[in-house]
Amino acid sequence: MSKVVQVSVDQFYFHYPAGATIVTSYANGKQNAMAVAWHTAVSREPPYYAVAISPKRYTHRLIMESGEFVVNFMPGDKAELVAAVAGCSGRDIDKFAAFGIRSSPGSQVRAPVLTDALAAYECRVTGRLPCGDHDLFTGSVVAVQYEPSAYAEGLLLELDGREPILYMGADYYARARGRTFLERKAPVPRETARGS
Ligand SMILES: Cc1cc2nc3c(=O)[nH]c(=O)nc-3n(C[C@H](O)[C@H](O)[C@H](O)COP(=O)(O)O)c2cc1C
Repeated sequence: MSKVVQVSVDQFYFHYPAGATIVTSYANGKQNAMAVAWHTAVSREPPYYAVAISPKRYTHRLIMESGEFVVNFMPGDKAELVAAVAGCSGRDIDKFAAFGIRSSPGSQVRAPVLTDALAAYECRVTGRLPCGDHDLFTGSVVAVQYEPSAYAEGLLLELDGREPILYMGADYYARARGRTFLERKAPVPRETARGS
């Protein structure tokens, strides 16, 4: 089957889902929460996590002022909350009051950790890289909080109704279901395969 080739790629990020998170921030007595799908780990040692935030977002201002953010990884049944915090700006309303969001301050940063998050990364900004219409904030992960009942041995997420939320673009979401274990494989060199 031949693929459709597009060179006008304004909605390129629709073609494969990305995990939808809620990024929280706090500065000068104001806290905020926004949906973020553009985020990734960028370094293991030291541990760095990055989020791409448009300068148009109120969150951008709070991160610039505080140098901190928290990435909250939500369970599948909180997808509506992700959509809710994406639909308005903290410039206009207090989303925590409006949506009944429960939280407590981070252990190392003042940005809030959401009570319903499966896990949260508390980050201190180490850099800001302007990337087109977004800024990529890299953050040193200064603490990780996680819900122990959701993880086997504190690391492997149990997919029992708490599946990660995937963002498919526009207003579409999916849930990641069905964990599987796959062994990594390197192709066996031909000589070895013949000799054995
Ligand atoms: C699922 C989803 C993911 C989003 N991801 C991002 C993102 O990665 N970066 C960004 O700047 N905006 C993103 N947005 C848009 C913001 O969440 C939205 O503009 C929000 O209202 C900003 O809130 P604030 O002004 O209170 O910071 C996303 C929206 C949705 C629906």
